Order: sequence, then structure tokens, then C-alpha cells
Amino acid sequence: MIGKPVARLDGPDKVTGRARYAADTPVEHLAHGVIVVSKIPHGQIRAIEERAAKAAPGVLAIVTHANMPRLHAVTVPPAGQTVLPLQSDTVAYEGEPVAVVVADTLEQATHAASLIAVEYERKPAILDFHAAAKHPVEATIYGELPIDSHHGDVTAALRTAPIVVEATYQTADRHHVTMEPSATIAMWNGDRLDVHDATQWVWGVRMALAQALGIDRTNIRVRSSFTGGGFGCKGYTWPHHFLAAVAARMVQRPVRIALTRAQTFTSHGHQPVTRQTLTLGADRAGKLVAVRHASICATSMRDSFTEMAAIASRALYACPAIETTNRGARLHRAVGTPMRAPLEGPSLVGLEGAMDELAERLAFDPLELRILNHAERDPSSGKPFSSKQLLTCYRRGAELFGWANRPRAPRQNKQGHELVGTGMATAFMPTFRQPANARVTLEPGGHFLVEAGCQEIGTGPYTIMPQIAADALRVPVERVRLVLGDTELPETGGTFGSSTTMGVGSAVFDAATKLARELSRLAGGELPSSPGALDALLGRSGRDRIAMDGSWSPGEGAGPLGEPPDRAIATFGAVFAEVRVDSELYIPRVTRLVGVYSAGRIVNPQTARSQISGGMVWGVGQALLECSVTEPQLGRFLHKNLAGYLVPVNADIPTPVVEFVDEVDPLASRFGGKGIGELGATGIGPAIVNAVWHATGVRVREVPVTPERLLGHRAS
Ligand code: MOS
Repeated sequence: MIGKPVARLDGPDKVTGRARYAADTPVEHLAHGVIVVSKIPHGQIRAIEERAAKAAPGVLAIVTHANMPRLHAVTVPPAGQTVLPLQSDTVAYEGEPVAVVVADTLEQATHAASLIAVEYERKPAILDFHAAAKHPVEATIYGELPIDSHHGDVTAALRTAPIVVEATYQTADRHHVTMEPSATIAMWNGDRLDVHDATQWVWGVRMALAQALGIDRTNIRVRSSFTGGGFGCKGYTWPHHFLAAVAARMVQRPVRIALTRAQTFTSHGHQPVTRQTLTLGADRAGKLVAVRHASICATSMRDSFTEMAAIASRALYACPAIETTNRGARLHRAVGTPMRAPLEGPSLVGLEGAMDELAERLAFDPLELRILNHAERDPSSGKPFSSKQLLTCYRRGAELFGWANRPRAPRQNKQGHELVGTGMATAFMPTFRQPANARVTLEPGGHFLVEAGCQEIGTGPYTIMPQIAADALRVPVERVRLVLGDTELPETGGTFGSSTTMGVGSAVFDAATKLARELSRLAGGELPSSPGALDALLGRSGRDRIAMDGSWSPGEGAGPLGEPPDRAIATFGAVFAEVRVDSELYIPRVTRLVGVYSAGRIVNPQTARSQISGGMVWGVGQALLECSVTEPQLGRFLHKNLAGYLVPVNADIPTPVVEFVDEVDPLASRFGGKGIGELGATGIGPAIVNAVWHATGVRVREVPVTPERLLGHRAS
């Protein structure tokens, strides 16, 4: 069953509305909480006028800093926002919760929330990223990943390099805009707290709530059977989690808090603006002799997430001297969080843009330049890669795309009123391996149940985990079902960092393999697979079910990403884009996308293709559309909706061509697979930016490459 294009087993539930998302959970006597947020970026609350709200119909409680219980500090790493809500009268970002109104209905709570009037003493706010970037801070929440790296002597190498390219790239503030806005239902039963949550990590939510509330985590159950897109914003915990739990205890009823679309722009993190300066030194033959990548990224006043946008340069190209640094710039704004693709996603905008500029300077083909600098080993650590067929990807991608006859100089291809150009880049994402547990059970009728406390965020575990179990048990996938998203199930890591297929998949593989062995033993040799034979076996053994637990972990001496001590593990791809740019209006459109990937054994080519295609859509957004503007007086993200914050729609996306090379990587996971969740969203953005340069001859180093930026650079 591994390797078969099985259509999503949860597809019918999703398209018929049977699939239940957190806010859909039917709960008796449910009350509704609506958050009131600060309209200023920095200051102190002088007074909250809540009389009108209190008197409004249906209102059960109003929670403010005055009556909110003091919570315990949350240290569970890495929490999205460690500053807990309503703990003081200070405000440090626009959009910060200042009150919660709880009422019988959502409409009543929304109405009453609109009657709350907050009086502030405004304080000066730091809102300008470039000004704040003059005072960089060292900060991140990416676990143990070192924020800087030094390998070889970059300064010396740059001094003698015959070719040096220096360029500063900027990526925009971007938002996750999941289809399902974050939502939490909290209900107390005595000392026990039951939570239904839109999350990528039920275990993380449980830990953070236990810490904040000062209760034992075994008294908390968190469930999430479907999550409507995460992309990082549901990876950790945010104010609404704590507010729902506290409000439910106050009103002694279950409370649901669902963020409004506008609130999601400040209340679950975003991908913060980065400014990256690249200095590439090369010899005349095109070999890199030095890479310096220095990034600075916006972060908040009280929390310290910074996107490490210099990171891709550590491991992508062979080079004897590499230096990467990642810094933060503190602003009065909501804190960011990982967003698909974190780290390498923004990082490759800088590195792959600069590589394109180096190719231009050398009068090299950009693809040839990458092949020439291909890294056989991780250049920073010296470790060999567990598997890497990037050279095959380059060759096959170029063939599928028709790269060979591309004119090297820009602005060579005008068709009617359109300038046509092509560009390419390397896609690259290291893997994140987390320990996981799973259970596989034989049930009557020859059916198998797989249980693992991971999450379905739209990526396909309901299909691929049964495939992995079915493969070991030699039964059709239709006889295997998965139950997930519950802290009562075997513990797994979060469904983020492209980690679920590897970690949970390996634990499922382990449990299913053990069960197959046990069933063979009970059957006296041959593994029975027909329902009749399996029922007969249950009958003979006098049990109504037979279960086996399985587990997997990255093992002894694993590094911060769960990589083994002697190997680097990553996924790769070669991506190609064609754009057409209106020769007068300078509106760029993507007309072709090709990606060929080296990403381990592909469990399901159909869901994998969807996953990668989805990532490519993210790349189009990154390159051409997604850009959140900060209003300079109020410090608010100006467009807290999908009318002003643009994401690609179908009309923006050509049918992508996606291929995977044949690969099995037994060092990455038990069944040879790797994670592909975020890989698709890397490389595509810079490939498109490079194609726009090739079409127009205009090099825009700030994404998104909008018509006004193209026209502005053309004029200057
Ligand atoms: Mo991904 S940003 O780890 O959901």
C-alpha cells in the first residue's frame, strides 16, 4: 500500500460537512466568548467602561485585567506567545486582548463587546522596522538551533575573491490566513478541563494550559479531530487558549472563543518581515569561496520569536567559508511565529536571489551555477546527507520545463504586449524528526484501528497512516482507519516542521509490524489477512481484539532537528517558473511551474502531489502578492482581511507539474520516507522573482514583486 495514489479517505467527510472542526463541536449550554483588542500599540489602560456591556442581553461575564486570575508563567518551549493575556494594565501591541465578553450567544457577546470602551494613556511606540533594526537583539524560539554559524574565514575569503556579489533582500510580513480561524472550546468538570481546539499540537496545548493554570496535565484532555489549515499558526498556544479556560471556570459553563478573521492577523502569530544581506564570493570558474548571510527580522517587545532567515546558506551549497547570523528588531507589535515554509522559505528568497545575481555577473546559466556548487556533504557540519538526489532533480526539472534554450540575457522575449521570462531556484528543507507513539489494533471483521495523538491539518494523515499500517499487515487500506487528535491516545509530537509522516509514520509502521508478527505467530506461521481468517484467529485466541503499541524516536545523540550524529537529513527540489509581465503595466503573472523533488519514499503520490502543489501556491503568494502593511501611527496591520491582504486565487495559478525522484531513505525513518509538508513552499518564490528579472531586466529585491515596485525600479 505504500506508494499507491489512494484518494483521501477523509475527503467525503470534508466535502459533505461531516468532518467536525473545533468550533463545530456540539456542546450543551455552550457560552460564547468574544475578545476585545487594543486599538493602540503601546500604553497603559486607565479605565475600562463596561457598564453598558454588562447590562446588554445575555451577558454572563466580562473578563479584564482587573478580575483575570494571575496565571503561572508558561515555559513549554516553544510557545508562540509566552506573555499571557490580561495579566496587567499595559498594552504592548495593537490587537492585544484587553477584555473578553462572555454571553449566551455569539451575537450577544459580539454586541456587548462592541459596547466596551477602553481609555488608554498612550505611550510612544516603536513601529518602524528599519529604525528598530539599527538596534538588533539576539532572540529566537527555534529550540536549540544556534542563531549564528561560522565555518571557515569568510572575511579573508571575500578579500581575495575575484567576484563578489552583495545584495540586500527583503521579505514581507505575511499571515497564515487558514480557512479555519483558530477556535477553542473549554469546559470544566470539577477539576478536569476538557478542550476542543483548532491545533497542530494537542500535547503542547495541554502542557501550556497545565502550566498556566497550575494544574496537573493529566487533568486536561485536548482534542482535535480536524484542523482547517495550520501552516504554523496553530502550532503553539495563544491568548485565546488561556482566556477560554479561565472564562469557562468563571461562568461555570463551557465557553467557546473563535477568533474573528481580523483577530487572526494579530492573535496567532505571522511571518515577520526580514531583511537579509547576502555577500557571495566566487572564483572565475563560478565556485563559491565565501557566503555571508546576515538576517534581521521584526519581533515584539515582550516575546522573542525571530525568523532565522539566514539559515539556508548553512547547508545548501558547497563552500569553504560560510557565516550566517540572525537577529531581531523589537517593535510594538504582535509576535510572529513559524509560517509555512519557516526558516528556508524566507531564507531562500535571499540566497537564491543572490545566486541568480552571481550567475548574471559571471554570465553563467543559473542552473549550471547551482550544479557547479552542489554540496555532496552538509558544508557547515561536514556530515554526509542521508540521501540527496538533487542533481537528478535539476536534470529532470530542466528537461520537463524546457530550460535548455533559455536566452541568458534578460528581456529577450517579447510576445505581443507581454515580456516573457524564466527563472529557477533550489527548493530545500531540512527535516525535523520528533519521537512518536502509536497503537494498532485488530478488531472484529478483519478491521484494523490505528491510534496516534497527532493532528490532521489538511495534509493527509487519515490516508497515509492507514496505508503504512496496511502495508505491514498486508490488507487493503479500506480495512484500516485512523483515530487521532486526542491527548488520551499514544503521544506524538506536534504536526508541524514537516515531521508527522516520519515520526508518527515510523511509530505506526513499528506497531503494525509488531502486530503482523504477533498475528503470524498466533496463526502458526503465515500472516492471515482475510476477514474470515482474522476473525477465526480472534476466536481461537479468545479475545475480541489484539493491540500492539509501537514507537519511534530519533535516537541517541540526535541534534536539535532530530538528525542523527553522523548524517544530515534534508529534502530537496529543483523548481522552475515562467512569468509573463505586461510590458506597460508591469503586472507579473505566473504561467508555468515545474518542480522535481528528492524527498525520500513517497507514501502516497496523490496526496504528496497536492501537498507540493499547495506549497507552490504559497510560493506564488510570497513572490507576487502577500504583503501586510503596517499603519505608521496606530501600528496596526492595515488590511486585516482578504480584500486587502492578497493571497493567490485559482486564476493566479497555472497547473503545476510535480514529480518525485525514486528514493528510499532508511536513515530518515522506518519506512524510508521523509517529510514534505514545507518543501513545496520553498524555492518557488525566488524562482518566480528570478523569472521576473529575466522577463523585464528589472531586479526587485523586495518581495512581493508588485507592479508598483517593478515600475519604481524601472524608473530609477
Ligand atoms: Mo509548519 S510552519 O511547522 O506548520
